Amino acid sequence: MRIGILTGGGDCPGLNAVIRAVVRKGIQDYGDDFVGFRDGWRGVLEADTVPMDLRAIRGILPRGGTVLGTSRTNPYKNGGGEAQVVATLEKLGVDALIPIGGEDTLGVATKLSAAGVRVVGVPKTIDNDLDATDYTFGFDTAVGVAMEAIDRLHTTGDSHHRTLVVEVMGRHAGWIALHAGMAGGANVVLIPEHPFDVDAVVGHVQRRFDSGYSPIVVVSEGAAPAGGELELATREKDAFGHVRLGGIGPALASLIEERTGREARAVVLGHIQRGGTPSAFDRVLATRFGLAAIDAVHDGQTGVMVALRGTDIVRVPLSAATSQLKLVPVERYAEMEVFFG
Ligand code: F6P
Repeated sequence: MRIGILTGGGDCPGLNAVIRAVVRKGIQDYGDDFVGFRDGWRGVLEADTVPMDLRAIRGILPRGGTVLGTSRTNPYKNGGGEAQVVATLEKLGVDALIPIGGEDTLGVATKLSAAGVRVVGVPKTIDNDLDATDYTFGFDTAVGVAMEAIDRLHTTGDSHHRTLVVEVMGRHAGWIALHAGMAGGANVVLIPEHPFDVDAVVGHVQRRFDSGYSPIVVVSEGAAPAGGELELATREKDAFGHVRLGGIGPALASLIEERTGREARAVVLGHIQRGGTPSAFDRVLATRFGLAAIDAVHDGQTGVMVALRGTDIVRVPLSAATSQLKLVPVERYAEMEVFFG
């Protein structure tokens, strides 16, 4: 078979491990050949391709980012995108498509599948917010980066007797904040699912100072105080209509400084969480997803996405990928609240 492969949306550690597994098994076991599309759906719309053979995948397992490039191009944003995608696939003789992406990329894949394109999706996002899979690769690496930052911030914070506010990614889900905060011993964790009370945050900060140590506040980029928002850096939207988040950390640090009368500084981890080499967990999960995706194509099971359930890789309908976000449940947040202050 001739199979197209693309990576869309934000990059994520482990994308290359998926590409490698798909291409390696496809060529070795099934005799496939591959077309790599550059920069997500943009490459499909414009028939912009790269060769994807065994040579192209050599050495990419530990590399962060994506050798295919990525973009947040949405073929459905302007009219005619779907027909253009179908035309490219026909022109290049592509029998099936393996898009690797999050909610947006797989949303496009779902529509294309309904239009008759043979698609097997692979979920990715550092946010870990896709309900159809227990974990997405990239999350473990992002949490590891944030945890290491928190570990380092404890020592400098204590030395200067100041509050350090660490802003992490995650969009509308607080998973990165929750896991990094728990693993790093943060004194407050603020997540989008649980609007926070500024007085309570200041209280936790004060209690931490009273115990002789300096507070670390982990705030997810999508978190907001109850009944309002702190000022964000920008209101710009991407092609899928998402507002670019970021800025809650510095805004919260100013507020804490004002209310406690003690110095507070903010660290915005941003794209450091997405860059660099994937953790062992993410490499293994990404590899298993890639192997399962190429098997699904050859089993004739398209319109599906591979997913992790417990320790098993399963196939779920593509539509499940985008039907529901996986948010942090109240009980998981309560486990972290034990360590506040
Ligand atoms: O979805 C992954 C993610 O890193 C989010 O956590 C974050 O809000 C967003 O992407 C940032 O996107 P960009 O790199 O396009 O600014």
